[in-house]
Amino acid sequence: MRLIQTLPLCLALLLSLAASHHKEDHVQKDEPDDKGHKHEEHHGAKLDRCAGMEFDAVAVNEEGVPYFFKGDHLFKGFHGKAELSNETFPELDDHHHLGHVDAAFRMHAAESPDHHDHQFFFLDTKVFSYYKHKLENGYPKDISEVFPGIPDHLSAAVECPKPDCPEDSVIFFKGDDIYHFDVKTKKVDEKEFKGMPNCTGAFRYMDHYYCFHGHQFSKFDPVTGDVHGKYPKETRDYFMRCPHFGQKSTEEHIEREQCSRVHLDAITSDDDGSVYAFRGHHFLSMTGDKFHSDTIESAFKELHSEVDAVFSYEGHLYMIKDDKVFVYKVGEPHTHLEGFPKPLKEVLGIEGPVDAAFVCADHHIAHVIKGKTVYDVDLKATPPAPVKEGSITQFKSIDTAMCGPKGVTVIIGNHYYVYESPKIMMMARIIPEQHKVSQELFGCDH
Ligand SMILES: *[C@@H]1O[C@H](CO)[C@@H](O)[C@H](O)[C@H]1NC(C)=O
Ligand SMILES: *[C@@H]1O[C@H](CO)[C@@H](O)[C@H](O)[C@H]1NC(C)=O
Repeated sequence: MRLIQTLPLCLALLLSLAASHHKEDHVQKDEPDDKGHKHEEHHGAKLDRCAGMEFDAVAVNEEGVPYFFKGDHLFKGFHGKAELSNETFPELDDHHHLGHVDAAFRMHAAESPDHHDHQFFFLDTKVFSYYKHKLENGYPKDISEVFPGIPDHLSAAVECPKPDCPEDSVIFFKGDDIYHFDVKTKKVDEKEFKGMPNCTGAFRYMDHYYCFHGHQFSKFDPVTGDVHGKYPKETRDYFMRCPHFGQKSTEEHIEREQCSRVHLDAITSDDDGSVYAFRGHHFLSMTGDKFHSDTIESAFKELHSEVDAVFSYEGHLYMIKDDKVFVYKVGEPHTHLEGFPKPLKEVLGIEGPVDAAFVCADHHIAHVIKGKTVYDVDLKATPPAPVKEGSITQFKSIDTAMCGPKGVTVIIGNHYYVYESPKIMMMARIIPEQHKVSQELFGCDH
């Protein structure tokens, strides 16, 4: 997992406390501006996305990281505190009266290189176009100039490239009015999306289309507006990393963990092929075709939540969190070994935090990944003597990895890649086929 995502819980709490203090200060100091009126959007102190909120706009950035807009704030990625939108997009502020972002999308139109990968923001009557984090010359412009036929004061927008839509298009939402805008010809098609809620935000993520409304979302067909399957669903379950809330049935827990788009913290596969996947406060286990999901607190009480790396070794789960190792004997229930947690330095000879760790069957070697470096630790040796084995060359960072009969599975965000062995993982020149975590690894059916 990326370093920023492995913040120890206490640090994360401190940060969020600090953030809320900061925001409270901010509110108190909120004096009337030079136009004589107060900014009304400064409710930063209340901006806890895990409390459930309706977003004004949702889009992915150039790297595919989701941005959730609320008032004059912005949430980046699936967890973490709100930032002021103007810290990232300062020009959005030059028009103070414009208030919040109404709609946003990332243009995906390979055939229109002028616009491809630009981020568009809609505020009242204006549109802002950013490319590589810079406002483009001449922007903001009137929406009617750039997107003729599209109304002001939009509710949501999402790109719809070919072949999802017949032509490279942008779908605009205003109340229950839907407009398909052809990027090349600028032709506008008004549509009716019957049975779809009014979206306040929409985005395309992992080739699917999501409409956000209230604190829920629905997946929809971009051409017909049809919603298939059990929607709406709770945004916090699938796109936010939040502690558990509300009463849920076991099936709902399992479904959420199978289908969540939030990155995994850790995963491991044990000798008999059972897989355990950890994400935030929850875990999912798979044995054969049997799934089980629960809170980490209930099955691994000493650990509480948010583990950095887990590997399986001789019937035990070695769970690494910050600079400590917890060891559980696998069973019903899992039992925490006496004498643990122990310092990571003592058990593996490495300073935490680490990103991933795995043991391949029939070996006594733990492969520990920290940043780009892969260490090899002989679990039979005392004291532990980690050896630098090599480095990850194909990715900037990884979230987690496991080793099983098929080889090493490396997970990054919603994707995974399989290498025949740790050595091949480090030496490979070609990135192997990309697979989807929720669908292909966990069997999510949507
Ligand atoms: C960003 O917005 C906040 C609140 O609206 C304001 O106090 C701050 O000066 C702005 N920062 C920039 C860089 O414009
Ligand atoms: C959806 O938007 C339309 C206006 O376009 C409005 O009349 C209708 O009440 C809205 N529906 C809901 C459920 O908010």
